[in-house]
Amino acid sequence: MVMDGERVMKNRLMVALDVPHAADALALRDRLGDAVGWFKIGLRLFVAEGPQLVAAIRRQHRVFLDLKFHDIPNTVAQAVESAGALGVEMLNVHAGGGEQMLASAAGAAASFPQMKLIAVTVLTSDPMPSDQAREVALRRAKMAQDAGLHGVVCSGHEAAAIKRACGAGFLTVTPGIRWGDQALQDQQRVADPAGAIAGGSDYLVVGRPILQAPDPRAAALEALAMMAAANG
Ligand code: C5P
Repeated sequence: MVMDGERVMKNRLMVALDVPHAADALALRDRLGDAVGWFKIGLRLFVAEGPQLVAAIRRQHRVFLDLKFHDIPNTVAQAVESAGALGVEMLNVHAGGGEQMLASAAGAAASFPQMKLIAVTVLTSDPMPSDQAREVALRRAKMAQDAGLHGVVCSGHEAAAIKRACGAGFLTVTPGIRWGDQALQDQQRVADPAGAIAGGSDYLVVGRPILQAPDPRAAALEALAMMAAANG
């Protein structure tokens, strides 16, 4: 059963559909059903299945298209236009592309008011020491905000500092979520669901802890319960 606190939190939980084929993605969608408000479609699935899969997931859920665009400003702006036309509610580019690229991306995104454009700051898998990651993430967050983006992808270790610097309305999306005795795998700067919410992350991105769980729906509900508890 999905309880009240969890019902609110489900709109802050994004499950990463890191699976190879549309059939796997739709099976997972059906299994998680109303426990989850968002699905994240990343490189693997989008390269294999493209816009048709985005349309299928959008029938019941919001979609974060995680393609981390990083190219010359004109090329990124054109790609943002194509993504916006798919009707996704969130899209990202990589802040490493620089100020001009971010500004061009934001300009293109402005034609799609339903879509939040966010910038990846420092990958949660980057082994950079914590202090350095925070400094780089903060600098890139301010650059993204100045360029007109709605928020950033950052680890749970950086969300609070970014909120302080950029304001509560500037979105923070946090992958690298692990809890209990879950393995870090390739992630480095991890946070648990409660810690990420308490630290000020607006959205939590969870992949393998749900995808590889014996019961993915139970794992999603467990994450939601921890998020709800941290939210008070
Ligand atoms: O399986 P796991 O929970 O580690 O998956 C995290 C998801 O978030 C993956 O789809 C990964 O591509 C994505 N992601 C990330 N770090 C970022 C941006 C996106 O881990 N900075």
